[in-house]
Amino acid sequence: CERQDGRPYRQRLLVVANRLPVSAVRRGEDSWSLEISAGGLVTALLGVKDFEARWIGWAGVNVPDEIGQTALIKALADKRCIPVFLDEEIVHQYYNGYCNNILWPLFHYLGLPQEDGLATTRSFQSQFAAYKKANQMFADVVNKHYEEGDVVWCHDYHLMYLPQCLKEYNSKMKVGWFLHTPFPSSEIHRMLPSRSELLRSVLAADLAGFHTYDYARHFVSACTRILGLEGTPEGVEDQGRLTRVAAFPIGIDSDRFIRALELPQVQEHINELKERFAGRKVMLGVDRLDMIKGIPQKILAFEKFLEENPNWRDKVVLLQIAVPTRTDVPEYQRLTSQVHEIVGRINGRFGTLTAVPIHHLDRSLDFHALCALYAVTDVALVTSLRDGMNLVSYEFVACQDSKKGVLILSEFAGAAQSLGAGAILVNPWNITEVAASIGQALNMSANEREKRHHHNFVHVTTHTAQEWAETFVSELNDTVVEAQLRTSK
Ligand code: ADP
Ligand code: G6P
Repeated sequence: CERQDGRPYRQRLLVVANRLPVSAVRRGEDSWSLEISAGGLVTALLGVKDFEARWIGWAGVNVPDEIGQTALIKALADKRCIPVFLDEEIVHQYYNGYCNNILWPLFHYLGLPQEDGLATTRSFQSQFAAYKKANQMFADVVNKHYEEGDVVWCHDYHLMYLPQCLKEYNSKMKVGWFLHTPFPSSEIHRMLPSRSELLRSVLAADLAGFHTYDYARHFVSACTRILGLEGTPEGVEDQGRLTRVAAFPIGIDSDRFIRALELPQVQEHINELKERFAGRKVMLGVDRLDMIKGIPQKILAFEKFLEENPNWRDKVVLLQIAVPTRTDVPEYQRLTSQVHEIVGRINGRFGTLTAVPIHHLDRSLDFHALCALYAVTDVALVTSLRDGMNLVSYEFVACQDSKKGVLILSEFAGAAQSLGAGAILVNPWNITEVAASIGQALNMSANEREKRHHHNFVHVTTHTAQEWAETFVSELNDTVVEAQLRTSK
């Protein structure tokens, strides 16, 4: 395998994630257009080079007909993507149901879904069956494209059942699994009716990776408490077979952001924004419109700040860019209405005929517009109630080398462990504390901003997506070699 610059690729990698890096939009019977998908998983993996990678996943659309499927397979092949076709019912039960209504909130400490005010798992059986079926469908596609020596890297909570399916096909497959969300305390995980089955299937992988040491520790203790297995410093042992468990903090392709700032179109955006918000400090939130991001809490804290600091009312603006996500799940629909209602109320309360304090956009911004926004921001507000890592905070830091703005960061985001020394850490549930931190950030001396930014900038530019992937894959290769040595003894 040769790269375009003539150097050999490191290794062939099959990346398997529920979502492909591009989502397909049908334009005609056999024509498709592809749009970049949003989310930290896609952002990080797109920053990984040097591997000859194929990406296997769902294109975000139901394609029941053969003509459409053949055309989509062709359109995606140019991007080295291979689709898994999931029908509407599976998507409803597996993606909207089990993944995003059960696992996602539970792993973010938001509990199990409520029906009539009761936490219930009434639809649980059929959703879990669909989850297993969907994972099996992913395994079938992987198996079809697998070549000996490939590394198969499974991603996220959608595919916890996949390692077991793959090993059933071929016990020699090198299988790694990485979780992009928190892994919760075993006390939370044990609420799941399928708790043991999920743990066991992850343990079929050779290596299980997490963003932080705490998440890895929670996973090991869930295996100990729920399955009664032995946790060792290396991982989890079951009848002499070790599943290696470790932390691999993710990063971004920081150079891509830094280079983008030099582009004329980004400079043009920057100038427009500076002109538009001249005389006002810019605060920024960029999130998927998800309940884990604490968007209502963030906006209420901003309201409290304005309430307590009348002198700032016409001198600061909050730009909240929230891309809609998982819009078929009722919880997400409720969140959208709630955010709109709060923003409307606050703008009515503090707005004037010429300016409003909050600009809320329900949409995705293109990469260049996003870089420009990061660059002109004085204070970024990340108020996740829980978050695996939060790459928005990394992207903001990467784009701030000339401005040296302040990052207010939730202590419940994985990023608090890496950017905590440079950011102002807050408990997003405490609106008074977040409001006070807004004041602290806006009034911070240039000296202190510089010092804090420097710490974070060094981290973001050295702990990149590439480094993350290289470390994970090399650990996976070593783990497999060590296991072979152990069994041959
Ligand atoms: P999550 O993976 O939960 O969405 P992250 O902060 O890790 O959270 O990653 C979010 C990614 O999605 C980032 O790369 C960010 O730039 C992108 N993103 C989020 N919201 C938007 C938006 N409104 N427009 C464009 N990109 C967005
Ligand atoms: C998070 C998850 C990803 C997911 C992304 C976007 O980052 O960890 O697996 O792809 O959110 O969510 P979506 O449901 O649109 O894929």
